[in-house]
Amino acid sequence: MIEGYAVPDFVSDFWHLYIAAATVIGIVAMMWLLKSQTTRKLAAGEDAELMHPTWDGDLQEFNNPLPRWWMFLFWFLLLFGVVYLVLYPGAGKFAGVWNWSSADQYKQEKDRVDAQFNEVLKPFMGKDLMAVSADPVAKEMGQRLFLTYCSQCHGSDGKGSSGFPDLTDGNWLFGGAPDDIKASIANGRVGEMPGGLAGDDKGAKEVANYVLMLGGKPHNAALAEAGKAKYAACAGCHGEDGKGNNAAGFPNLTDASWQYGGSEAAITESIVKGRKGGMPAQMENLGEAKVHLLTAYVWGLGGGAKPVAPAPVVAVEPAADAAAPAPAK
Ligand code: HEC
Ligand code: HEC
Repeated sequence: MIEGYAVPDFVSDFWHLYIAAATVIGIVAMMWLLKSQTTRKLAAGEDAELMHPTWDGDLQEFNNPLPRWWMFLFWFLLLFGVVYLVLYPGAGKFAGVWNWSSADQYKQEKDRVDAQFNEVLKPFMGKDLMAVSADPVAKEMGQRLFLTYCSQCHGSDGKGSSGFPDLTDGNWLFGGAPDDIKASIANGRVGEMPGGLAGDDKGAKEVANYVLMLGGKPHNAALAEAGKAKYAACAGCHGEDGKGNNAAGFPNLTDASWQYGGSEAAITESIVKGRKGGMPAQMENLGEAKVHLLTAYVWGLGGGAKPVAPAPVVAVEPAADAAAPAPAK
C-alpha cells in the first residue's frame, strides 16, 4: 500500500515486524533496567557501599540509589515514547491511531496558503492576460513569483543564459502569444535535437557556416558551400530557410537570439552533441492562479506577441447549396 509517502515503504512484513519488535523490546528493556536500578533503597542507618579504592587523593565512588528527579524524568521520557508510538507512525509500518503523515500535513498547509493566495488573486483570474499584465499590482506579484520560481534558470531579469531561453526578446521557441506562454509554463516543454546529424566535427563546422550564412552573418563561404548539402538533414526541423517552426519548438537559426550561443564554435557544438532543454511543468506545483499571474508577467516582459485572432466566422449561404442540383443516386 503506497499512498503518497503516508506509509513508509517496508519491502516486506519481516522488516516491519523487525523494526516494530526492536522498538517495543527496546522500550520494555529500558523500563526493566530502570526499575531494577531504582528499587533498592538504603536501609535506615546503612551507608552507601564504596565501589572503588580512592583515586587522585580524595575521589571516591559510592553505590548510591539513583536520584529521584532523574528517575522520574527517565520514566516520563519512556512513557512519552510509548504514547508517541501509539499516536504517530514509528513502530514499523503501524501508522499510529491519529493517522498523521508529513505529506498530509504539508498538503493541508499548502492548501490553506493557496486558498489565501487565490482569494487575493481572484480579481485577476477572470481578466484577460494582457489586461492583467498592464496592472501594476499584478506585475509586482508576478515579479516576486518569477524571482522565486523561475529566476534560477531564466535569470532575475528573464534574459536567460546559455541553455535557458531569453523570455524578453520576442524570439520564441514555442510561441509568444499569451496562450502559448501559458502552455509553456503550465505543462512544461522539452526541446530535443539529436547530435551527430552532420557527420564528424568537420561536417558540423561546415553546416555551422551554412547556418551563419542563412542568417546573413559573417561566415566562411567555402565551408558554407560545403555544408549546404549536409543541411538537408536539418531542414526537416529547422526549415529550408533555417527559420524553424514555433509551434513545434524548432528554433529559428537565422535570428540574433540563441539559446546555446551563436558563435561558430557554439553552433558547431550544438550540431555535434545535440541539445536537449527541459522546462519543468509548473501547474501541479503552483496552481492555476500563480500560473495565470506568471504568464501575464512573462508576456509583459516585452517580448509577448499579440494573441492570434480567431478566424472570422464566415456565414454559409445555404441558398447556393440548395440551388445546386441534387447528386444523381
Ligand atoms: C529532429 C529535429 C531536429 C533536427 C533534424 C535538427 N535539429 Fe537543431 N534543434 C532542434 C531542436 C528541438 C532544438 C532546440 C533544443 C532545445 O530546445 O534545447 C535545436 C537546436 C539547434 C541549435 C541551437 C539553437 C540555439 O538557439 O542555440 C542549432 C544551432 C541547431 N539546432 C542546428 C541544427 C543543424 C545544423 C541541424 C542539422 C545538422 C539540426 N539542427 C538538426 C531540432 C532539430
Ligand atoms: C530548471 C530550469 C527552469 C526553470 C526553473 C524554469 N524554466 Fe522556463 N524554460 C527552461 C528551459 C530549458 C526552456 C527551453 C526548453 C527547450 O529548450 O525546449 C524553458 C522555456 C520556457 C518558456 C518558453 C520559451 C520560448 O521561447 O517559447 C517559457 C515561457 C518559460 N520557460 C517560462 C518559465 C517560467 C514563468 C518559469 C517559472 C515558473 C520557468 N520558466 C522556470 C528552463 C526552466
